[in-house]
Amino acid sequence: MEDIKAYVQQHKDRFINELIELLKIPSVSADTAYSQDVIDTADAVKESLSKAGCDFVEICDTPGYPIVYGEKIIDPNLPTVLVYGHYDVQPPDPMELWTSPPFEPVIKKTEIHPEGAIFARGACDDKGQMYMHVKALEYMVQSNTLPCNVKFMIEGEEEVGSKSLGWFVERNHEKLKNDVILISDTGMISNQQPSITTGLRGLSYVEVEVTGPNRDLHSGLYGGAVANPINVLAKMIASLHDENNHITIPGFYDKVEELSLEERAEMAKAPFSLEKYKKALDLNDVYGEKGYVTNERNSIRPTLDVNGIWGGYQGEGAKTVIASKAFAKISMRLVPNQDWEEITELFVKHFTSIAPAGVTVKVTPHHGGQGYVTPIDSIGYQAANMAYTETFGVPAIPVRSGGSIPIVALFEKELKSKTILMGFGLDSDAIHSPNEHFGIFNYLKGIETIPLFYKYFVELSK
Ligand code: BES
Ligand code: MN
Ligand code: MN
Repeated sequence: MEDIKAYVQQHKDRFINELIELLKIPSVSADTAYSQDVIDTADAVKESLSKAGCDFVEICDTPGYPIVYGEKIIDPNLPTVLVYGHYDVQPPDPMELWTSPPFEPVIKKTEIHPEGAIFARGACDDKGQMYMHVKALEYMVQSNTLPCNVKFMIEGEEEVGSKSLGWFVERNHEKLKNDVILISDTGMISNQQPSITTGLRGLSYVEVEVTGPNRDLHSGLYGGAVANPINVLAKMIASLHDENNHITIPGFYDKVEELSLEERAEMAKAPFSLEKYKKALDLNDVYGEKGYVTNERNSIRPTLDVNGIWGGYQGEGAKTVIASKAFAKISMRLVPNQDWEEITELFVKHFTSIAPAGVTVKVTPHHGGQGYVTPIDSIGYQAANMAYTETFGVPAIPVRSGGSIPIVALFEKELKSKTILMGFGLDSDAIHSPNEHFGIFNYLKGIETIPLFYKYFVELSK
């Protein structure tokens, strides 16, 4: 497929400009202030699929944001690839830390991306990576090389838990029938060393509320005599880890799959520099569960992290007050076999049980999902590896990621198909952070690599 390289070279400016237009629409699913923009983005994605060569496209209404569906069926006897991606993005805050506005995309050079990267919210997660598939389809249609059927399912609620997608998948088994699911919504090791994500962690996300007195109090008149909800919450949260950074919730580790020493030794072969890792984050040391190294702590081990904590006076100057309430949002990343609903229950039970007298505690579960691991001997994995080997010149390394795409486990359960995670982002692309970006190299390499996946998948399916 020498042609794809030439095609990308010839059309790269247009490919970049089209993505920039998509990135200008602020499709923040978490914040209802942006709801019209989310809907407009679905329309833009639908348009792009039709232009790229889908024979049928539609906006599918759901109880939440719409799902964009598109397909090109060339022969029902050939395999079908189902592409999944998401057009919603994370909220852009904190705004003041962006060096250029999050929805005014600009191309800037960085140390890791000397040929430039597009800076915008969603550039990498996931508009840029999703759009690679649209452009890969365009190429295959234009060059008459699409070797099988293709379906697209692009959702607008991934960043808030994919509730409507679950609803949609359960009701559309026949429509979504496929032989393999292909997703670009993860990362790879580096631009010199591609990797294929073989595992994702599950997730349980909860919000906690600690209530003390029925109103805010003068901290002199009442301080020391009543429970301070913020003090109490801090202590409760601190108690969730022991001195070895093990999580203290009873039963939390019961179903955790322990990897063999051989498997851990295999993992340790992936290139990783602790020095570079620390330097990239300006850290004087790493931190985590005793007995595990960094790459294990962030992939094969479950974790518990506070994502936000608030309460009391946060304005300018000082105000002497004991707040009536304190709050925190807590996420638990889970590994395969841990059931997210069970873990959520264990959390609720434990967190309520450790509340001291003098406060009441409320726990509200938000969303969650199961983890995922996929074997490397499937034809989907092999096809992906052959594709990467051809475009990068070296084989891909299998890597288990710490992130979550809860819907992947649901795809396996509902649609009985395996997912291949061909991610082209880098850890340094700052997804979910200010100054998110996606390398031009990565974007174009993705467009170049995807058609090869189709080619090898069809060949191996014969
Ligand atoms: N694309 C990410 C997940 C990801 C990124 C996985 C990099 C592996 C490598 C996805 O958009 C995401 O952010 N997922 C959420 C979970 C969701 C339920 C909010 C996450 O992992 O926090
Ligand atoms: Mn994503
Ligand atoms: Mn994300």
